[in-house]
Amino acid sequence: MRKINWSVAAVGLACAIAGAMLPEVHFMTFAAAQEVLTAFGRTEDAPAWDAWVRTEDREVRARIERGVEDSISNLVLYGTSFTALPRVASAEVAADSSGELVASARARVRAAAAALPIPGSNERLQFARDFLLRRGVQPKEMDAVLAANLSRFSLEQRGYQEKLKSAHQSGDPAAARLVGATLFDRRGLSVDTSLLPNFALEDSLQAMLRKGAIARDSVRTIAVIGPGLDFTDKRDGYDFYPLQTIQPFAVMEAAARLGLGKLGDIRVVTFDLNPAVNAHLRSMAKRAQAGTPYVLQLPLDDAGDWTPQATAYWEHFGELIGKPAPPAAAPKGLRVRAVAVNPKFASLIEPVDLNVVAQVFDGGKFDLVIATNILVYYDRFQQALAMESIARMLNHGGVFLSNTVLPAQKPEALEYLGRRSVSYSALGAYGDDIVVYRRR
Ligand SMILES: C[S@@+](CC[C@H](N)C(=O)[O-])C[C@H]1O[C@@H](n2cnc3c(N)ncnc32)[C@H](O)[C@@H]1O
Repeated sequence: MRKINWSVAAVGLACAIAGAMLPEVHFMTFAAAQEVLTAFGRTEDAPAWDAWVRTEDREVRARIERGVEDSISNLVLYGTSFTALPRVASAEVAADSSGELVASARARVRAAAAALPIPGSNERLQFARDFLLRRGVQPKEMDAVLAANLSRFSLEQRGYQEKLKSAHQSGDPAAARLVGATLFDRRGLSVDTSLLPNFALEDSLQAMLRKGAIARDSVRTIAVIGPGLDFTDKRDGYDFYPLQTIQPFAVMEAAARLGLGKLGDIRVVTFDLNPAVNAHLRSMAKRAQAGTPYVLQLPLDDAGDWTPQATAYWEHFGELIGKPAPPAAAPKGLRVRAVAVNPKFASLIEPVDLNVVAQVFDGGKFDLVIATNILVYYDRFQQALAMESIARMLNHGGVFLSNTVLPAQKPEALEYLGRRSVSYSALGAYGDDIVVYRRR
């Protein structure tokens, strides 16, 4: 197994801070993209490809700002740190079909606009205010801007629901799967993250272990593509605790729990294009290197019809990588656990700036690569390019797990191993389908 070039990765962090591309991060070359280009009937030559991939990188990164606007709308709808007004049930019901905000959403916009100029130590409000000020929004314009943003967001969310519904009604399961798998291919790039997709990953890895598709002691290096930042996700994210990232820890713990690797030996590199995500991870790793634990808050909605397995996952999360910490004071209706992650393990997480649909990493290879709730933001061609980038970062025999059903026109180097459905709720309304590939 090749080892990650960790010293170079550390140098890379400094480059990422400066906004430069790391020496190990390259735009995908024409040769590397060739197989995917052919599979999709694309005819560009090498110079055209080189120009295209750079433009593509800029266009993809330009979607980050719209993702921030979406996160701000989620904060307006669901935040409890700046108002006692009830949370709105969902973004779809925040506005009528003409985009007019309903009274409860309008009231929340007013509360958020009043809170933004005086954020105090509320880091989400600070983040939203700074973002809007950078955009040139004056304090007196905040209310109107938040309202327009929420109206746009609500209509967009309705559009996604309608698109999914009509795809399912079409009676063509393949077409419906395609719609689901690329649903957000024009949407802003969200950072939101939550705990339970990691349960689906652990459950799938366990099933693979049982079937002999993955071996004990085979994982030393893990790549998490798009680790995310828990800002205020609509389903089970909240804002009563500091911003946090979960997946790098969850995957490290899953590997250890299943005996795929040993804690302390397992290193995790995160790949993300969002500067806020990368800055958060850098600061976490730096504090961990100085001995400070990273505290994760883990809320579970009492009203959820969680399966016993999902509940057990929540109850036991963090037992190996940390110890219990005092939970943050939560709104009614939530159970919260908190875990202080041992700095020894947190310091083994290394963030790298990379756009997986346009760039490749040459700084080392991985035994396990994870990408959940990220590839759904891309079309089939972009997904195939991401698979090429992922195939190139995997060791031979290494595995790649995603919760997006990916295109059949995939790089030959990735062998499809199968799909596993994991429900979090007893009625099956909430869960993930995990697809698994192995690097030949
Ligand atoms: C919706 S979050 C999902 C977080 C986490 N994986 C989860 O399932 O909870 C998507 C993450 O992927 C990142 N992302 C989106 N497009 C990306 C790309 N092309 N390359 C790298 N990261 C990307 C976003 O910045 C964000 O951190």
